[in-house]
Amino acid sequence: MTAPTTSFVTHLECSETGEHYPAGVLHGLSRAGAPLLVRYDLGALANAVTKEDIAARPPDMWRYREFLPLSPDIEPITLGETMTPLVRVPTVEKRLGMEVILVKDEGRLPTGSFKGRGMSVAVSMAKAFGVKRIAIPTAGNAGAGLAAYASRAGIESFVFTPADTPDITASEIAFHGAKAWRVDGLVGDCAAIVAAGTEEMGWFDLTTLKEPYRVEGKKTMGLEIAEQFSWRLPDVIFFPTGCGPIVRAFEAGEREVTEPWENVTTQIHGVRVPNPIGGRLVLDVLYESNGFGTAVDDDAVTEARARICAEEGFHMCPEGAACVVALEMERESGRIKADDRVVLFNTASGLKSPMPPLENRLEPGRAVDYSAL
Ligand SMILES: Cc1ncc(COP(=O)(O)O)c(C=O)c1O
Repeated sequence: MTAPTTSFVTHLECSETGEHYPAGVLHGLSRAGAPLLVRYDLGALANAVTKEDIAARPPDMWRYREFLPLSPDIEPITLGETMTPLVRVPTVEKRLGMEVILVKDEGRLPTGSFKGRGMSVAVSMAKAFGVKRIAIPTAGNAGAGLAAYASRAGIESFVFTPADTPDITASEIAFHGAKAWRVDGLVGDCAAIVAAGTEEMGWFDLTTLKEPYRVEGKKTMGLEIAEQFSWRLPDVIFFPTGCGPIVRAFEAGEREVTEPWENVTTQIHGVRVPNPIGGRLVLDVLYESNGFGTAVDDDAVTEARARICAEEGFHMCPEGAACVVALEMERESGRIKADDRVVLFNTASGLKSPMPPLENRLEPGRAVDYSAL
């Protein structure tokens, strides 16, 4: 299947071997089984658009259109991917003795998570290539994003989630019209079902990084931060990802995640990835940017999420609260200084994850003991 080539995409490139692949053709992984990366003619792009042009455009992800793989004749499949705000967390700033901590709140996006960005671009491209059916293994939020954007595009979607995905997200996926199943296992088991069904079902596999365009949509998080910081990046950015295996590989100085993390149990569903396919790419970024990885404890995350929600009204998802815990740990270790310019990612709305139930009850007609409220 082909689509018109874009103005600025020159080709795609295997992230492992550097082998080139043509733009304008539907792609999955490279021949080496590695993610493909989209490459642009940055010189031509720089001549075509200025910071002032971008500043004058509507405040959504499509203000970076030249940086995205859609050619001008492809109509985006959009649900209103708004620019997301940087929100201060004053109680955390005070406790850590820091001047400013900014949280980029991705919970404002369609389907309540950053996954909306990637899905908007990936589904737009899939639609342009004539794809009629898409399947995905997912911790939950990516499935909700796919289901919504696929419905919008008139594409059939099949979504497989681990059995313990929170009810709210599982229901959301089905409510958006996807054919959805819970699988007794982890996201890797879901991925195996998608891979094994491809021949019979003829679906396009939208597993993270198995197709090249989702990450292009996610890239707009970086462009937005750059623009919001007047095109100078902050000192440190915390982003939640498949934590344990990445940290272990990074600390061992390895170039990729060679050992999967067995029997992962965590309530932080979005980062429960035993063997991340993008492990090598994440590690490359950590090494190149003088970065680091921090593994966090579930209980500390649950406590931080509840505390920040109650103390300052900001309801983070567990993955976002994991970034707060990581910041606290790295402030303690001395890696983060008081005047570092820090951005944390709240990758989804807190409303997408379970909360403790409300047990307090009153009965109408019976006297209320107001002093006990
Ligand atoms: C809320 C949330 N944060 C972070 C992640 C991790 O994202 P990625 O797989 O792109 O590393 C996920 C993935 O499911 C998620 O749902």
